[in-house]
Amino acid sequence: MTVPTTSSSPNGAEDFLPILGIDHVEFWVGNAFQAAHFYQSVLGFDVIAYAGPETGVRDRASYALRQGEITLVVTAGLHPDSPIVRHVAAHGDGVRDIALSVENVDRAFAETTRRGAQPVLEPTTIEGQKGTIRRAAIAIYGETIHSFVNRDDYHGTFLPGYHRVLNGRGTPTGVYSLDHIVGNVELGQMDRWVAFYRDVMGFSQLVHFSDEAIRTEYSALMSKVMQNGTGRVKFPINEPAPGKKKSQIQEFLDFYGCPGVQHLALLTDDIVHTVRQLRSRGIEFLRVPPAYYQSLHARIGPISEDLEAIQELGILVDRDDEGYLLQIFSKPVQDRPTVFYEIIQRRGARGFGEGNFKALFEAIELEQAKRGNL
Ligand code: FE2
Repeated sequence: MTVPTTSSSPNGAEDFLPILGIDHVEFWVGNAFQAAHFYQSVLGFDVIAYAGPETGVRDRASYALRQGEITLVVTAGLHPDSPIVRHVAAHGDGVRDIALSVENVDRAFAETTRRGAQPVLEPTTIEGQKGTIRRAAIAIYGETIHSFVNRDDYHGTFLPGYHRVLNGRGTPTGVYSLDHIVGNVELGQMDRWVAFYRDVMGFSQLVHFSDEAIRTEYSALMSKVMQNGTGRVKFPINEPAPGKKKSQIQEFLDFYGCPGVQHLALLTDDIVHTVRQLRSRGIEFLRVPPAYYQSLHARIGPISEDLEAIQELGILVDRDDEGYLLQIFSKPVQDRPTVFYEIIQRRGARGFGEGNFKALFEAIELEQAKRGNL
């Protein structure tokens, strides 16, 4: 793969933060052993590597999981004074780190901190038996961070400190890439984080959904989508908007205790297969009312997928100028109503399912009401 050191950003300026992709996403959880089992047996990831007391890491247990080009890590602390344990006490299980793969960690750290990013980890070389990696980190919203990782001089399975796991195969569900990762921030803070991604990270704004676009009878939110210079990394930022009842974003903030990652969208090339697999393994998805499907054909036109299967599984469809997309949203995947997953298949469309927002958010409100949080 050849990637230029400096690529052009959409506005023609030099991209001062060339990002090769999302290296991995690390969750801090209460019980990494059981979380890894969920990602393996339900979502179909392979457990590829482990770090913990048996590998010389004294304070935590981590499992690295992979499916296609997605790498997730689940980490738990082993002592009550561990920052991981305190993080879980405050927020429940959640995303700590959206780690970005970069060519030059030192430059990524220098350029972003010079532009105002708060440093979390100065550029550091981490030695392992299979080489070294260079790593640094900056703070983003809430207690979330972006690590910058370069693994050009590393030949091990995942990272130094991890041992390869050989018997951790999952049965794949067809998800293979991270389409986008959404952050929820407080009322009035969306534009601050949009400015952060623009000014500090060199991203540009792809779309803006106003609270008029994302409004039901009861609640609303606003969203702006930021993307990096290559368009490969997309981070929508949501904030709650005032409505008659509580925004789903506010419910997230109340239970997470601060801004944080709301959902990860996983790409598949066969959403019918993926959703069938996930449902049979126990993932629960949000359901829109049957009326959604009565008007679907008129709204969307012909699609390649079997409409009966789409309706049976509760998959949503949206069309834009360039094609259409299919998507579905899981219920939260931990006890608190915080992080969930989106499964998405793109057939040309590059949007985010704008045409589904209203039906979708009404379905979310039904769930909020069940929890007594609407
Ligand atoms: Fe999404």
